[in-house]
Amino acid sequence: MSSNISGYSIYSVEAKKRTKVSTLDGLYPSLPAEKKYEIIYADPPWDYGGKMQYDKSSIKTENIGFSKNIFISAATFKYPTLKLKELMSLNVQSIAANNCLLFMWTTGPQLSNSMKLGSAWGFDYKTVAFVWDKMMHNPGRYTLSQTEFCLVFKKGCIPSPRGARNIRQLVRTPRSKHSEKPEEVIDGITKMFPYQNKIELFARKNYLGWDNWGLEVPKAKIKIMDHVDCHSNENSSQMQPLSCE
Ligand SMILES: C[S@@+](CC[C@H](N)C(=O)[O-])C[C@H]1O[C@@H](n2cnc3c(N)ncnc32)[C@H](O)[C@@H]1O
Repeated sequence: MSSNISGYSIYSVEAKKRTKVSTLDGLYPSLPAEKKYEIIYADPPWDYGGKMQYDKSSIKTENIGFSKNIFISAATFKYPTLKLKELMSLNVQSIAANNCLLFMWTTGPQLSNSMKLGSAWGFDYKTVAFVWDKMMHNPGRYTLSQTEFCLVFKKGCIPSPRGARNIRQLVRTPRSKHSEKPEEVIDGITKMFPYQNKIELFARKNYLGWDNWGLEVPKAKIKIMDHVDCHSNENSSQMQPLSCE
């Protein structure tokens, strides 16, 4: 006997009710008109086709309406998502300086889309700048998944002067709110490029030292890693001579 009902499809009516839709007239809020940035940090609202996933971090009350008290969530329950074509249409080129790095969050299933997106925005893929070990796994179709990646793309040369050269690629910190990325990453990027104009796209926080753009940016500015007892390491910032890397 064949059936089209997958494990999660019994929840699709409830899922539809929870799907967030953008209330903007156009596709995007406007980007800064005049300013150019040497550092762009983006966490796109990738589209997973509404696919639901097991999500231990979602709180129990969010499960109301589902027939079983299990942990199910989806990106679309939290914020509107955008298809690759829509993401490609964001005019990132208009805010990118001639020498610019783009740091972009992605997941395993979105890797090939990320390459396409970076190149549509005018950048060349360089490497995986950060690997986030969430220290807890989700079911995966192939292996149990517990990492996300922040890729780095380049346009022109690496912006100079450079700051810290000792920022580690591997960040091990438990996941918290859905889609919330570890602050260690934006902190690391800030230390690597303390002198440049920086913007976070698809931001949910409004960090000092950065311009922050997205549907959910609060008005009040906050310090990066304010909750952590940071001992600033003055030796970690080294001015580099101007040259094209
Ligand atoms: C993956 S989340 C970002 C999470 C964030 N990096 C964090 O650590 O909390 C994507 C964000 O993009 C926003 N977004 C969705 N559609 C958008 C649009 N059309 N224009 C701007 N922002 C959008 C969502 O509201 C959401 O805040």
